[in-house]
Amino acid sequence: LRTDVLTLLKCPSCGVESTFSAEPALETKTEIEVGTIMCGGCGSWFGIRQGCINFISKPSQQVESERAAQATIDARYGEEHPEYQTFEEDEDEQRAFVLSLPKGYPPTAEQAPVVDYALDALKLNGREIVLDLGAGMGWTTAAFAQRGCRAIAVDVSDLYMPRSRFFCREGWYFDRVWGDMANVPVASGVFDVVFANAAVHHSPDLAATAREAARVLKPGGKLVFTNEPVAGPYEKAPYRAVWGR
Ligand SMILES: C[S@@+](CC[C@H](N)C(=O)[O-])C[C@H]1O[C@@H](n2cnc3c(N)ncnc32)[C@H](O)[C@@H]1O
Ligand SMILES: [Zn+2]
Repeated sequence: LRTDVLTLLKCPSCGVESTFSAEPALETKTEIEVGTIMCGGCGSWFGIRQGCINFISKPSQQVESERAAQATIDARYGEEHPEYQTFEEDEDEQRAFVLSLPKGYPPTAEQAPVVDYALDALKLNGREIVLDLGAGMGWTTAAFAQRGCRAIAVDVSDLYMPRSRFFCREGWYFDRVWGDMANVPVASGVFDVVFANAAVHHSPDLAATAREAARVLKPGGKLVFTNEPVAGPYEKAPYRAVWGR
């Protein structure tokens, strides 16, 4: 976490925006890695660990089941790829894996052309403030950071999101927040882009996620969902451009 994100946050306890202060316990040259932030509205404290702010004090049923599913999927992938099994213990291997994204992992490799299409279509000028919902390991958030944008990744995953620190350390910094895309702990009307890749179909409440996207966008801001496994009126164009069908 870097303290300039504090004005972009909203307290999930009292709903007051932009009033946080930070107390670092461990700072690296990249960011505050361990510490707490306090809401100036209600005095609630939220932890920072592995550089991520934790706004999920009490995980919902949906969050619990997402986390359990990810542990299962990860273990299964590890059985198929023995080199992956050890990487949670080995910083260098983990870093190499994360920095290989999207190419180094079949699901993200397959999605990358559509994300590239969307990034081009957005015609970014590098001054945008971007919210990446359900960002996982953060490879799409890093892509925005690489283009100069100031980005925030929101996800519920205690497994995936900490891995994003490797992008941040590489110079593609973005802030990471454990929070729910149905009740997003970020301030209203400040984002130029709300983005999500293959994530919105995980929302516990699609209507609430849509309302939240509308709340946090600036007037004229852009909403981009890519690689959702649903049919939609805009889906065909990017797919046709990329896949020729
Ligand atoms: C298929 S993954 C996509 C991850 C990432 N966008 C990518 O492209 O690699 C779906 C993500 O949605 C996240 N997710 C599930 N429920 C969520 C919720 N309620 N709020 C925020 N993120 C959630 C999961 O933790 C997971 O990282
Ligand atoms: Zn508060």
